[in-house]
Amino acid sequence: MITKCIFPVAGYGTRFLPATKSQPKEMLPVVNKPLVQYGVEEAMEAGLVDVGFVTGRGKRTIGDHFDISYELEHQIKGTSKEHHLDGIRNVLDNCNFLFARQREMKGLGHAILTGRGMVGEHPFGVILADDLCITEEGDGVMAQMVKLYKQFRCSIVAIEEVPEDQVNRYGIVSGELIRDGLYRVVDMVEKPQPKDAPSNLAIIGRYILTPDIFDILENTPPGANGEIQITDALRKQCQDGVVLAYKFRGRRFDCGSIDGFVEATNYCYENLYKKGRL
Ligand code: G1P
Repeated sequence: MITKCIFPVAGYGTRFLPATKSQPKEMLPVVNKPLVQYGVEEAMEAGLVDVGFVTGRGKRTIGDHFDISYELEHQIKGTSKEHHLDGIRNVLDNCNFLFARQREMKGLGHAILTGRGMVGEHPFGVILADDLCITEEGDGVMAQMVKLYKQFRCSIVAIEEVPEDQVNRYGIVSGELIRDGLYRVVDMVEKPQPKDAPSNLAIIGRYILTPDIFDILENTPPGANGEIQITDALRKQCQDGVVLAYKFRGRRFDCGSIDGFVEATNYCYENLYKKGRL
């Protein structure tokens, strides 16, 4: 059983200033729902109901969002607006929330390591809320990955093809095709220049990790950007064992950029909100 999911949410969100001056970027709404809630709902749908946030300074409203607001409950009870709370009430009824504080920004690998105490010796998911994944039919991306995990019992990263001139924004994998859309990772590199990239298969913000990753992370020196990179730890894991890369079904929006965020907003408005699915 895999029930735990880490959400690294300590980043500053400088690309969205001034909007993110005093509120976390993860709380920015895509239509009417904060980015992070999309991620938590995707985790919940996959059975990952033990949600661990790795937070930092200025992120308190995330904790408030995933808690009861008695004043609001009191105000809205029995009114025509009550249904607006159905989604978040469902999340609160079904998930447990834990928080760990990342005091220094030392990279995604460091953030995940900071979540170690919330996970223990269990396999776990990682969701980067910035990467919004929408699957209109069938399983969400994390649920697709949990199914694979049950079969293969190893770390899995979600990937998609990106244009060659964008490989320097991502962790890039190369691998052997096992079956349609599924690769055994041979190598991976964080944010390579296009000439050094082993492929155009980019890791997007969905991972399932086995707990041995923590000891590897403890011993992973800073890499790209001087940060401790999960990609470097996974490279070690794939050299010693098996790591899979999975081309997921669904659409992914890079909500860490203004362009991706606007695209996601338009898409969700047309395809979810207008159809009564938000
Ligand atoms: C992180 C990872 C990178 C991955 C990306 C997906 O980078 O380090 O390997 O491809 O997320 O969004 P970041 O976007 O935090 O720079």
